[in-house]
Amino acid sequence: MNQTAKNYLPAAGLDWLLPLYDPFVKLLGVDRLRNELLTSAAIRPGHRVLDIGCGTGTLVTLIKRRYPDVEVIGLDPDPKALARAARKARRANVAIQLDQGFSNELPYPDAFFDRVLSSFMFHHVEPEQKSATLREVRRTLKPGGELHLMDFGGPTVEPKGFLARLLHSHHRLKDNFGDRILVLMAQAGFADSHEVFHRRTFFGQTAYYRATAPAA
Ligand SMILES: C[S@@+](CC[C@H](N)C(=O)[O-])C[C@H]1O[C@@H](n2cnc3c(N)ncnc32)[C@H](O)[C@@H]1O
Repeated sequence: MNQTAKNYLPAAGLDWLLPLYDPFVKLLGVDRLRNELLTSAAIRPGHRVLDIGCGTGTLVTLIKRRYPDVEVIGLDPDPKALARAARKARRANVAIQLDQGFSNELPYPDAFFDRVLSSFMFHHVEPEQKSATLREVRRTLKPGGELHLMDFGGPTVEPKGFLARLLHSHHRLKDNFGDRILVLMAQAGFADSHEVFHRRTFFGQTAYYRATAPAA
């Protein structure tokens, strides 16, 4: 692991706020957005699926409950979030592999996954690590495999409301807007990258992007 990859921004921004993360994002309506992401990902039996920045494991647990016949792996650098994810999976009685690691150095072989999902992780990655993250996702996707990424993003807007302004003031969020993510996806070698939709929410504008790994 290189030196620059060792720091990370935890799920709730500060370590001690982690226990509040799940109830907070539930209140914000993130469950509905994760559900939409999962439905659009068109996961099929036999797929191998990675959730990068899986945090407290809500999405990985949901994937395995909805699609018992897929192999699900969650990756996150934060051991405390992973411990919570493991407890959540145990309570839901589902088997999920949880790995500690960074999105820009994925510990998986080439052409390993059918789907890579990412839910509100990308704005936690330092601007200089975003390209490397997308290159790693492309490397680990099978030809024709898909990345489904949801985060703050879409056309550049002036955030409205206190919470949206507070979140958007973070420097890691600034390069998520405009065509930035699509440009990075194209540079990483994805064959077809596009914004599926964007939404204004009271915590800021969120966008959903899809990109396909080129056929071999
Ligand atoms: C806002 S949380 C989102 C968690 C989860 N995906 C969700 O939808 O609730 C962002 C997560 O990204 C993780 N993270 C931060 N930097 C990362 C990196 N370089 N690679 C992978 N995950 C990272 C954090 O530890 C945190 O759990």
